[in-house]
Amino acid sequence: MPLPSSVLVVGSGGREHALVIALLASPARPRVICAPGNAGIASDVTCFPVAADDIAGLVALARRERVAFVVVGPEVPLSLGLVDALAKENIPAYGPRADGARLEASKVFTKQILLKHGIPTAPAGIFTEVEPAVAYLRSRGAPIVVKADGLAAGKGVVVAQSLAEAESAVRDMLSGNKFGAAGSQVLIEDCLFGEETSMLVVVSGKNYIMLPTSQDHKRIGDGDTGPNTGGMGTYSPAEVVTPALLDRIEREIVRPSVEAIAAEGIDFRGTLFIGIMLTPQGPSVLEYNTRFGDPETQVVLPRLADDLLALLWEAATGLLDRSGRAAERAEHALCVVVATQGYPDAYPKGDLIALPAAPTPGVRIYHAGTARNASGQLVAAGGRVLGVTALAPTLRQAADAAYQVCAGVNWQTKYYRRDIGAKQLNRRPASA
Ligand code: AMP
Ligand code: GLY
Repeated sequence: MPLPSSVLVVGSGGREHALVIALLASPARPRVICAPGNAGIASDVTCFPVAADDIAGLVALARRERVAFVVVGPEVPLSLGLVDALAKENIPAYGPRADGARLEASKVFTKQILLKHGIPTAPAGIFTEVEPAVAYLRSRGAPIVVKADGLAAGKGVVVAQSLAEAESAVRDMLSGNKFGAAGSQVLIEDCLFGEETSMLVVVSGKNYIMLPTSQDHKRIGDGDTGPNTGGMGTYSPAEVVTPALLDRIEREIVRPSVEAIAAEGIDFRGTLFIGIMLTPQGPSVLEYNTRFGDPETQVVLPRLADDLLALLWEAATGLLDRSGRAAERAEHALCVVVATQGYPDAYPKGDLIALPAAPTPGVRIYHAGTARNASGQLVAAGGRVLGVTALAPTLRQAADAAYQVCAGVNWQTKYYRRDIGAKQLNRRPASA
């Protein structure tokens, strides 16, 4: 089957900008469009103002523009059944159907599958009522982790250092209305310790291709302090995942996960993003997401030596007939997210952004929360605004190049972490 000649990318973040750029680089030279996109994506391809959760609008757009293939970025349209709706119109799409998207949309559903299939994960209890939840907390002790069941944009997880903090999280989720329906069930799980890694796996039924390893920085502040965010920066490869550890992750987590999902009757065709804690006892699953990570994608795709379009198309259409690892480039990639002060809570919008006048070789600025104001000027329009990504022979060189560009990007309330990649750089000060 020939590769599709036109692709619609759904979403508006840095992840989607990276997907657009990687798809444009395909030797098949597809026409790429995006909905709704952002100001940076709009300078590379045509964007259409259809929101990522407007399922009927996206299906209509795909038909109107006669796209041969749709690549879905965010989790919300997946869980709303965008891929199911496109299938009814015979439009192939990359991303799981709603049944597969439940693996991200419900942490309880996923924990039940992990436990049932013996995949390493923290022991946990599932509760709908405050009193038994509190009794369980007291029986386990702190630190302990409280998670709202449903989608909460990365904010539904509290790693509580004390029982008091854990109890108030349980009460907030179960009896407060801060989380709406997402908080009608909570998961309480043992706290795991170690470094985290993000494993992105392109899955097609029982076959899978593991993408290059990466590590995210989830907390807002340097030294992993402050509240969790969607991710403040990434690098790839994550060398903490040694070749032996990667074999173990494939054997104990990736392959059993793909088999478990198929055994549950889900024909999963999309990205299974496995959040893994590397504990002293071995790798353990923190969560599944059912889409590319943001900002993992910004460092993983530039290192991918395979044609992304061919890989996603084969996965979506069931042509993928092998399992294993993707081919990757030797260079290191590092992405620093430049955000607006205040994120992940409230933040101002509309500040004018000044980008460096000339590009820096090896550095690409992926746009996330950017827009144009009425005068056509580039403005900050989201919490995470840019993903400054460098590709270089060493991680040190990538970090230096990315940070140099971050310093040259200006708006009134810009904020970024200064220590992206520091853990890996400090581990190998001589050679890095
Ligand atoms: P999740 O959305 O489930 O990945 O949780 C968000 C973040 O909370 C993870 O990236 C971890 O940093 C942290 N976290 C989640 N579960 C645990 C756990 N059992 N132990 C320690 N930290 C956790
Ligand atoms: N960077 C973490 C995520 O995409 O959920």
